[in-house]
Amino acid sequence: MTYPIHVYGMPVLRKKAAEIKKDHEELNQLIDNMYETLYQADGIGLAAPQIGKSLRLIVVDGTTINNEEDPELKDFKKVFINPYITEEDGDEWEFNEGCLSLPNIREDVKRKSRIRLQYYDQDFNFHNEHLEGIRARILQHEVDHLNGILFIDKLQPLKKRLLNGKLREISKGKAEINYKIVYPKR
Ligand code: NI
Repeated sequence: MTYPIHVYGMPVLRKKAAEIKKDHEELNQLIDNMYETLYQADGIGLAAPQIGKSLRLIVVDGTTINNEEDPELKDFKKVFINPYITEEDGDEWEFNEGCLSLPNIREDVKRKSRIRLQYYDQDFNFHNEHLEGIRARILQHEVDHLNGILFIDKLQPLKKRLLNGKLREISKGKAEINYKIVYPKR
């Protein structure tokens, strides 16, 4: 099954997500459903708060799109349980980011180029690894979701203000998109 995507304005996107325990019920099913949701929305990464679950869980699949442009993503399909970025270094670089919770908004965002990431995989094996470039970028964006942060928070105040109209439309459910969404009731 697929979940509707929670968009800008939903409080769950602003919460700090809780860690997942090893005996979490139907975790594999949840992960499968998150992948299905990711694919039908044509995304690369999805964090559990985006489907309304305040949990530290991320699924990524960069293998299905744009392989020529981003060869680093060719074999990048992974589940991240309880991920934490413990170090960030390297030069800041700009990349044009989008987000399923912010439909039809794309902006250049500056982030550092290297991270150290700690996480558990789907079999609850612990990993502690360096990621660089586009892979680091995806995880920085997704781990932000687990901390209640959206990429628009990283923009200059003026740039962010220019998006106010679009953000208001999104939070009223008026964005033009081809996947199901949940937006605040008013
Ligand atoms: Ni996002």
